[in-house]
Amino acid sequence: MIRHLKSAHLFVDVDNVSDLPTRASDRTFEVFNPSTGELLAEIPDMGVEETRAAIDKAYIAQPEWAALTARERSDMLWRWHQLIVDHTDDLAAILTAEMGKPFAEARSEVAHAAAYLQWYAEEANRIYGETISAPSTDRRMLVIKQPIGVVGTITPWNFPASMVARKISPALAAGCTIVFKPAEQTPLVAGAMFALAHQAGFPNGVINLVYASEGDAVGRELCSNPKVRKISFTGSTEVGRLLMRQCSDQIKKVSLELGGNAPFIVFDDADIDAAVDGAIQAKFRNAGQTCVSANRLYVQSGVHEEFVDKFTKKVRQLSVGDGFDPGVAIGPLIDKRALAKIESHIADAVANGGVVRCGGNRIGSEGTFFQPTILTEISRDTTVAQEETFGPLAPIIRFEDADHVVRDANDTIYGLAAYFYASNLKRVWRVAEALEYGMVGINTGRMSSEAAPFGGIKQSGIGREGSRHGLEDYLEMKYLCMGGI
Ligand code: SIN
Repeated sequence: MIRHLKSAHLFVDVDNVSDLPTRASDRTFEVFNPSTGELLAEIPDMGVEETRAAIDKAYIAQPEWAALTARERSDMLWRWHQLIVDHTDDLAAILTAEMGKPFAEARSEVAHAAAYLQWYAEEANRIYGETISAPSTDRRMLVIKQPIGVVGTITPWNFPASMVARKISPALAAGCTIVFKPAEQTPLVAGAMFALAHQAGFPNGVINLVYASEGDAVGRELCSNPKVRKISFTGSTEVGRLLMRQCSDQIKKVSLELGGNAPFIVFDDADIDAAVDGAIQAKFRNAGQTCVSANRLYVQSGVHEEFVDKFTKKVRQLSVGDGFDPGVAIGPLIDKRALAKIESHIADAVANGGVVRCGGNRIGSEGTFFQPTILTEISRDTTVAQEETFGPLAPIIRFEDADHVVRDANDTIYGLAAYFYASNLKRVWRVAEALEYGMVGINTGRMSSEAAPFGGIKQSGIGREGSRHGLEDYLEMKYLCMGGI
């Protein structure tokens, strides 16, 4: 039984989600609670045929959706936003049940999802073109913006509610239609949000949900079907590369939000208490399972002991458990593979001289709970400093020289998020400009916002989500030239 859930129909009744394509088989798959192992739901397992049917519906619906006025599209997004706000607790309960994150974090994620809908309901009315001064008097030149068309979206399990809104709302605002595949571990909150979208009155075919236990076939169909004009994906760099390859035959547009290996740098002029609080946020939110998680903590020698002592004291107080239990700060990891990865990173670090300051072990023999862990005496060559851990593990690397630390921080194929704490203004600007990342948090451990462009450079991705830039990702530019004037 899902605690706190008032409107159970949102959760259990998949028929309520009328944006599902017609079934091609009776296959189903099961969704479990990672905290308890409890079976939450059995839902339709879809494949290529259903994906194709969903694409066809989206393709037919797109011209009419794009022909509505911006205000009409905006009104519908507003209605969906309000329904999500009204059902915050229900949605958060589903999210905690299927993903494990603490209920308070789940509520905050649902609020974040609603904020994206609000932002793009407003932004829908602000799609502008431009006029260009023509080089001769007998012609006029201008640029209009038009929706790309049908968009295929594939989302991960770590933010299953905010990802729905983050990808769908700018696309809808622009006049695109959607085929959406949520992660197989966390499809339920997406289903509930689609049920609310249906209540909001989106026309048939505008948003289409495809549940699938295996993403490969669905992904291939979305990438190879010529009716789909763009793919928007959040997940690993490895899968992003594969999708980009699959899209290359048709030169299909892609937005990719991929892996990170975020450095978190504490300089000796930093406010250490603030840096400790920022590190807790940046490292342990969502049990470290975010692509913007601080993955490597660099602390300058002069403040190293003070930072490690204060940080360790606070991390020891973080309680781990079922996300529905009061006071829990860290839920379970998503699966056993995630546990094994943390353990292998710790073992490699310790074999190379790393010291465990706190944590280091699984909690219980069943389940996927892991102690929040701090390692010190880490060298830059260890696996934990090179690869994304995606778990509650904070490796601390001591550094002496400010120029060297920026070079080390940039020495990665990734370029999503970086953080640093410092007070000297000259240093703040120099470091902010030198870090090769799409997003830099300066004296903050959290920067995700619907008002800001979220995304990475290098192999962390292409495109941005949020802000006015997020809308541009779903628009094509058309140049009009009128002669004979
Ligand atoms: C992520 O995409 O992993 C992070 C999302 C967020 O910080 O909202």
